[in-house]
Amino acid sequence: MNNYILSIDQGTTSSRSVLFDLNGKVAYIEQQEFEQHFPKDGYVEHKPEDIWESVLHTINAVMKNLDPEHDKVIAIGITNQRETTIVWDKVTGEPIYNAIVWQDRRTTELCDSLRLAGKEELIMQKTGLLIDPYFSATKINWILESCPGAREKAENGDLIFGTVDTYLLWKLTGGKEHRTDATNASRTMLFNIHTQEWDAELLELLDVPLNMLPEVMDSSDDFGMASEKYLGYEVPILGIAGDQQSALFGQTCFQAGMAKSTYGTGCFMMVNTGEQVLQSKNRLLSTVAYRLNGKPTYALEGSIFIAGAAIQWLRDGLQLIEKADETELLAINTSLDHGIYMVPAFTGLGAPYWDPNARGAIFGLTRDTGIKEIVTAGLQSVCFQTKDLQKAMESDGVRPQVLRVDGGMVINGWLMQFLSDVLGAEVDRSTISETTALGVAYLAGLRAGVFSSLESLATNWNCERRFEPGMTKTKRDELYDGWCKSVKKVQSEG
Ligand code: G3P
Repeated sequence: MNNYILSIDQGTTSSRSVLFDLNGKVAYIEQQEFEQHFPKDGYVEHKPEDIWESVLHTINAVMKNLDPEHDKVIAIGITNQRETTIVWDKVTGEPIYNAIVWQDRRTTELCDSLRLAGKEELIMQKTGLLIDPYFSATKINWILESCPGAREKAENGDLIFGTVDTYLLWKLTGGKEHRTDATNASRTMLFNIHTQEWDAELLELLDVPLNMLPEVMDSSDDFGMASEKYLGYEVPILGIAGDQQSALFGQTCFQAGMAKSTYGTGCFMMVNTGEQVLQSKNRLLSTVAYRLNGKPTYALEGSIFIAGAAIQWLRDGLQLIEKADETELLAINTSLDHGIYMVPAFTGLGAPYWDPNARGAIFGLTRDTGIKEIVTAGLQSVCFQTKDLQKAMESDGVRPQVLRVDGGMVINGWLMQFLSDVLGAEVDRSTISETTALGVAYLAGLRAGVFSSLESLATNWNCERRFEPGMTKTKRDELYDGWCKSVKKVQSEG
């Protein structure tokens, strides 16, 4: 028999299923995009059935490659867009509202009132998070307040909440298991990352009934059995982690001080801080990196809302390019002195600014500005935002020497070189590009006994290409200074 681990990677704009062999190599992969809904300024929603159907579609598509006589899936891992909030009826299984996506800003006012009430310190101390619409708690509150009858049903125990991992687990197990893992729980703003429990004081503050919340498990754990309806036989679900934590795990950043940055819809830079929760003084987040055998490992995270989405906007919104991979050649043919800055604050600014009311802008336009300058500025904005995070981490006393990168954008060599130049740090691109899916396959495989230890997994990591900084400090400072001035201009109180 050939054995495989199925990794379900449910992201913001698409779902993927990846079959890994037991050496951690990709055997088969399928992906499907699904529709994004923007009902109002700052609102971002998904239809839960679109999420589920796209997952099922990709599972069916990868499974077609297997011969039931000789091939077997022995474990499933689920990794997911984090924070996105779904509330559904426990009996009918029907969501009572669309999934409110992590990028959604509708709860800005509630967040302001929590801040005005002086709750920032309390929330930061307990959850490691800042008060922002990004996290699940205020989204749950909004659903309970806005959907007729929801509050009463929730109090009666008829409604349940889940981030996308929990929703998929519940669907795959035929409604039997209502669980999550500690990484996903740590993004709700209701989970105490020190005690590793739902926090009664925060539940009261946010008016969320405890009985709605899933049981919190290790990231490598027995989550339940996927019904035989889906793969043709029952398969244990043995790993769950939020996608950024999963990427950190897939990049085998197991030692304190090791860092990764993932360039997908957004960009998320994370550094492993070991057993310590490092409380940032620079508006970064402390979060659970993974939890194994009941023991949490923590990370410091900088979250940027728009990275790849800026290029998607240049392609679909402005129609300046037809395909994302055209950007590399355009940038190669553009002088670095073009003077254009694009600040892609389409859904506000994330770390380290946390300004939900900021909106995007392009500065420095002249008569000779063309498509290539604007596209280059779009790519550069991704690197400058990473530089913002690096500076914040540095002020918190953390300076990773090397950054391991992954996500769709890292294929762009120009972008990776500019990133290394602007950071003044080495950037390592690994041979395995599917690190997000790989991380949770590792977590599931550890539980299944296929992988023996973190040390053995770390030996699987190989560098495909290292980018070394080549830019002078003067140039780097000059370019970054222009970025900082541009960001000031879009800030809501700037
Ligand atoms: O926190 C949001 C993050 O998990 C979304 O990741 O890859 O879907 O952009 P991605």
